[in-house]
Amino acid sequence: MPDDAARPLVVVPGHPLRGILRVPGDKSISHRAAILGAIARGTTRVSGFLRAEDCLSTVKCLRALGASIEERGTELVIQGSPLQEPEEILDVGNSGTTIRLLAGVLAGHRFHSVLTGDASIRRRPMDRVADPLRRMGARISGRQGGRLAPLAIDGGGLRGIAFSTPVASAQVKSAVLLAGVFADGDTAVREPSQSRDHTERMLGAFGANVIRDGLTTRLHGPVDLHAHDIRVPGDLSSAAFLLVAAALIPGSDLAVADVGLNPTRTGVLDVLRSMGAGVEVRDLRDEEGEPVGTVAVRAGRLHGVTIGGDLIPRVIDELPVLAVAASLADGETIIQDAAELRVKESDRVEALARALGRLGARVEPQPDGLAITGTRRLRSGRVSSGGDHRVAMALAVAGLCADGPVTVDDPACIETSFPGFADALRRAAGG
Ligand code: S3P
Repeated sequence: MPDDAARPLVVVPGHPLRGILRVPGDKSISHRAAILGAIARGTTRVSGFLRAEDCLSTVKCLRALGASIEERGTELVIQGSPLQEPEEILDVGNSGTTIRLLAGVLAGHRFHSVLTGDASIRRRPMDRVADPLRRMGARISGRQGGRLAPLAIDGGGLRGIAFSTPVASAQVKSAVLLAGVFADGDTAVREPSQSRDHTERMLGAFGANVIRDGLTTRLHGPVDLHAHDIRVPGDLSSAAFLLVAAALIPGSDLAVADVGLNPTRTGVLDVLRSMGAGVEVRDLRDEEGEPVGTVAVRAGRLHGVTIGGDLIPRVIDELPVLAVAASLADGETIIQDAAELRVKESDRVEALARALGRLGARVEPQPDGLAITGTRRLRSGRVSSGGDHRVAMALAVAGLCADGPVTVDDPACIETSFPGFADALRRAAGG
C-alpha cells in the first residue's frame, strides 16, 4: 500500500479526458489463472497478472497451501502440485472471489482448512457456496449456522451434483465447478441468467471438457488439468471508471487499449450507448479464448435509462459508476433486479445513495437497486468510500464532474483492484 494511502483523495473538476491508455490486468481472470495454475499439472506462466491486494491475497493463500508461485512483476510462474493442508488460517483480506473460489477447491481436498477475511468478508453471505459444496459431500461449518466466515472446511470424497443456483453469481458457479474438478461424476450448474464465464473458458484451456448448454455448465470429474500459459487482458471493470468519466466530461475522447471484452462483462458499454455516449470497439480479437480489444468513448449528452433483468450480471461491478452517470443525466434512471448490490464489498445501494446524496444527487435506495433523478449538476463536498473500492472510484469520478473539489475519505481500498487509479485519471486529464 502506498505511504499516502491513509490520506483522503481530493479530486478537482477535470479537463476533458483524451488519449489512449491501458489499465491493469483483469481481476477475475487473474484470480482464476493463479488458482488453475496451482492445481494443474506442469508450469503455468501468467503475464499481465493484476498486482492488486485481492489477487495477491489469492497468491498468498495458494502459497499457504503449498503452491510454488514465483512473482516477477506482473508475471507469475506457477509450478502446479497437489495442495497440502495449510498450517495457518487462510486470510483472503477483502476478496470475495478468493474465499468463494478457494472454498470450492478446498472442498475437493481431504484435509482441514479455515478461510476468513476482513470485516466486509465476514459479513458477506457464504451459504450460497457452502450449501452446494456440502451437498457434494464436503463438511463446512461457519458462524451463524454455517452462513458466515470464518469457514472451516473438511473436504474430499466429493460426488458431482446438478445444482441450480438462485443467484446469477460467477463466484458460486465457479466454486461448484472447481469442486467438480475433484468430484466423481457429473457436476452441472444452472444459473438464472448468464454471469461471467471466465472459469468455464479457462478450465477448457487447461484441458477440461466443459459442456455448456444455455444457462447450464457441466463437467465430468475428476478432471486432470494441464498447465496453460495465460495472458491477462486489461480489466474492463477498472477501465469503466475512466470511460464513464469520458462520457460525462464535455470534450472527452478516450480510448482504453488491450482491455478484456468478454460479452458477459460488457454491459457497461451497452448502457453507456443507450444513455447517449459515443462508444466504439476497435481491434477486437481473441486472445486464448478471451475477447480483447480497444474501447473508445466520446462525451455526449446523457439521458436516463432502465437497467435491469439479464443485463444486471453483465454490469454488476459497473453500477456504482453508472449511478454517477445517471446522477448527471437528463431524466430518471432505474436500476432494478440488482439486490446483489447490497451484498458486495459494502451495501452499495445505501453507500451510493448516501454519498451521492451529499454531493447533491437525487438517489433513492430501492430494495433491489436505485432510482436516480438526474440533476445535471453535482456539488463539491466530502464523502467516504466506506472501505469499498468501487464506491471510492465512483465518487472520484463524481468529483471530476462536480462544481468544486470532492474529497473522498478512506481511499486506500482502491488498491484492492486498481493500483495507480489516481495516476491514470491524472494522465487521461493531461495532468
Ligand atoms: C466475480 C464475480 C462477481 C463480481 C466480482 C468478481 C468473479 O461477483 O461482482 O467482483 O471474479 O467471479 P458474483 O459472482 O458474486 O456476482
